[in-house]
Amino acid sequence: MPSVQLQRIQSAAGMLRHATRVAVMTGAGISAESGIATFRDALTGVWQRFRAEDLATLQAFRRDPPLVWGWYEARRKQVLASSPNRGHYALAKLAPQVHQLTLITQNVDDLHERAGSTGVLHLHGSLFEPRCVKCEMRFEAALPAADEHQRGVTTDERETPPLCPDCGGMIRPGVVWFGESLPQDVWQAAKKAVQECNVLLIVGTSGVVQPAAGLAELAFRKRKGIIQINPSTTGQDRFATHVLTGAAGTVLPQLLQAAWPEQE
Ligand code: OAD
Repeated sequence: MPSVQLQRIQSAAGMLRHATRVAVMTGAGISAESGIATFRDALTGVWQRFRAEDLATLQAFRRDPPLVWGWYEARRKQVLASSPNRGHYALAKLAPQVHQLTLITQNVDDLHERAGSTGVLHLHGSLFEPRCVKCEMRFEAALPAADEHQRGVTTDERETPPLCPDCGGMIRPGVVWFGESLPQDVWQAAKKAVQECNVLLIVGTSGVVQPAAGLAELAFRKRKGIIQINPSTTGQDRFATHVLTGAAGTVLPQLLQAAWPEQE
């Protein structure tokens, strides 16, 4: 490891080791090494290949329900056939090291939970909690077999959404779409965790989608220690106490190893 990066990791590890309350905010980048595409990375990003207006708004769902439902079902099956990576596992291992850890994610997959993290705050909802568009009743998605997995999610996966057995309304994906509010209880809990933490660890997000991105600035204003992990430069780097450049699956285990060498 280059010595500058080593020094940065050691400084960040020192800060983390002394923190009692840690908030972690993750984005699509943490799941990239599990084979789930990010949204904005050049060439591979979901929004480079699809138009958000066609797939990620309530209007799009009302205009063409099978297109939108089928696309999210294909993503859900892709997630089911994927596995957590070293980054997800490192965060699950971090929890018992500190007095309180709150894991906030913008991701709609369940890879944090499958790595062993609990109480995850899903700011943008979940692929696994579809709900009725009319009466809001929630449904647990039936789990398909892993061999239905498809690597590349395409828009020819049209599928008619099921109907709510209670009111007959269409069932929609349980994710937050553009123009919709975040689930307020989850958002309040995330803000509280950031306000009360000693250290905010930001992993794999471009930090351009509000209000989630505002958590970094909130932490900065409250003079929290901030550790940023990302292979690329982002607008959040200016808030960070320590910027660790690299992939989550590499840097997070290194950070934990440096903070708690006796655990390895
Ligand atoms: P983006 O696609 O905007 O950003 C992903 C970030 O991950 C980029 O900064 C990459 O550099 C970084 N990255 C890529 N590979 C990585 C790796 N191996 N380790 C660590 N970082 C890596 O995704 P988000 O910031 O999560 O909203 O996007 C925020 C929201 O925009 C999403 O939740 C989604 C989307 O529209 C909704 O679905 C409502």
